[in-house]
Amino acid sequence: MPTRLIIDTDTAADDCFAILVGLLHPEARLEAVTVVAGNVAFDQQVKNALITLEAAGRGGTVPVFPGARRPLLRDWVSAEYVHLDGKGGASWPEPAQRPEREHAVEALVRLVDANPGELSLVAIGPLTNVALAAARDPEFARKLRALYVMGGSNNARGNITPAAEYNFYVDPEAARIVFRAGFEVTVVTWDLTLRQAVFGRPQLDRIRALGTPLARFFDIVNGPTLAFDESVGIPGSTHPDTLTCLVAVQPSIVRRSAPYHIDVETAGELTRGYSMFDWGVFGRTPNARVVEEIDERGFYDTFVGLLSGGAGQ
Ligand code: BDR
Ligand code: CA
Repeated sequence: MPTRLIIDTDTAADDCFAILVGLLHPEARLEAVTVVAGNVAFDQQVKNALITLEAAGRGGTVPVFPGARRPLLRDWVSAEYVHLDGKGGASWPEPAQRPEREHAVEALVRLVDANPGELSLVAIGPLTNVALAAARDPEFARKLRALYVMGGSNNARGNITPAAEYNFYVDPEAARIVFRAGFEVTVVTWDLTLRQAVFGRPQLDRIRALGTPLARFFDIVNGPTLAFDESVGIPGSTHPDTLTCLVAVQPSIVRRSAPYHIDVETAGELTRGYSMFDWGVFGRTPNARVVEEIDERGFYDTFVGLLSGGAGQ
């Protein structure tokens, strides 16, 4: 029985590849994409989602709902210095599919209400849309089958600041609301990404050598992120969002996970968006399962398998 998915995304680079996992993995059934303010200009993100559907040969099959155009309380913080326009700076064919008129938050509430206990939500951007859905419908968290979040760093370094990972930094209030809302939540963190979700040059060369349209799409869209990651000393391109989606649809990829209590700093002078991961000796009740180790080889091989075959040919 495939996992029924919604992906909430600030669509740029690795977000596009997470959508490919949702579209192409045999154990996934992607039913909607919702877009939230994050990586690059909002309308560009919506377009990037539509371009990705088109690249996978799935234009017109999955609705794309534009959501919150800015964080709850803060000004938008761009990551264009990392991802440029999020589509590799290339001109892809203009997608025929149009974004839906319904707001993403309304769509999330409606879809989850109509399918209680059935839908998993993969949240790979700032948590604004998810927090708004939880506020709009107090039963939203309970009706969702599971929530998978890419964000934070488990007692380790950040990326947008030394203390904070980007998704939590951009909308720390939303992240705090989500971790207090009672979701069944699994978290993929930035430190895990640095340890196990980096594709080095030889792995990227192997993808390029596949020669499929999807491998070409990956190669081009991934280019700016690879250049940025290498410029800050990471030995390849980082794929946190792709991993988060794969954890949702292929849970056997997880080798080790543990319960934590997570909360997010909203008032810190130097630590805005810092994620506190309490490992259980300070008396707080766990509110999340945190992925600590994955089958790294399995992650890469599965992703390459998706880019090699079938759709998008
Ligand atoms: C996260 O920030 C974004 O730039 C990526 O898409 C990912 O979701 C990593 O910190
Ligand atoms: Ca993202």
